Amino acid sequence: MRGKFWVFEGMDGAGKSTQAKLLFDKLAAAGRNPIHVREPGTTALGESLREMLLSADRDDWHQRSEALLFFAARNELLRQQICPALDSGNDVICDRFTPSTVAYQAKEPSDFDFIFGIHQLVVGQNAQPDGVIIFDCEPETSYHRVCEAGSTDGFENRGIAFQRKVRSNYKEFSKRFPETTLVVDCENRSIDDIHQQVCAWIEHRRDV
Ligand code: ADP
Ligand code: TYD
Repeated sequence: MRGKFWVFEGMDGAGKSTQAKLLFDKLAAAGRNPIHVREPGTTALGESLREMLLSADRDDWHQRSEALLFFAARNELLRQQICPALDSGNDVICDRFTPSTVAYQAKEPSDFDFIFGIHQLVVGQNAQPDGVIIFDCEPETSYHRVCEAGSTDGFENRGIAFQRKVRSNYKEFSKRFPETTLVVDCENRSIDDIHQQVCAWIEHRRDV
């Protein structure tokens, strides 16, 4: 049986990696041989593009140029890791995927169609996520968590107004794909409470 593809999304500091690790352990204990990858990165090209895209002092590029670079990293990750794992029956947990490009690179309404068009070309029917989980909180909360954890990159440094746009783009994404998207409220909730909600939804989606 083909593996399942779970995508974890949200602003920097929302708690994606924390939750991804918890789900990874749970799926591993259940014998699903999961893999956990992140975007941009994981492959050699992805890590090079990550360094370039996340550099704090780079020039501003047009949002569609940025989107195309993220898709180049995504294409590599799909071919090298995600598709082979799914074909072998293993679950995949991916920190960020196309919803991030929508959230961070859609500046104007027409950018949505641009991004979804490339998504169809690059991802096709074979590797559509079975579930997208968006970890949602106030931008101030996630920014505070990132600062406490001690590292900020080029996107994190774009300020609260930019993070609000990211959050509203995620909301728009969830409205377009209500069946396959779960928005999790992460404000004032324990890590374990959120994990239980994630597990319950993933089991529900697995049976769909
Ligand atoms: P992301 O991967 O979304 O950037 P992380 O999982 O790295 O976020 O979490 C960022 C920081 O916030 C970490 O220090 C983590 O321990 C903390 N954190 C994660 N979830 C919660 C939560 N529900 N409540 C409080 N702190 C949290
Ligand atoms: P990362 O450190 O992996 O995220 P986090 O802090 O949430 O763990 O940083 C990845 C950055 O790249 C993040 O700020 C979002 C941005 N990004 C885009 O702008 N577009 C994309 O398509 C992807 C995948 C990421």
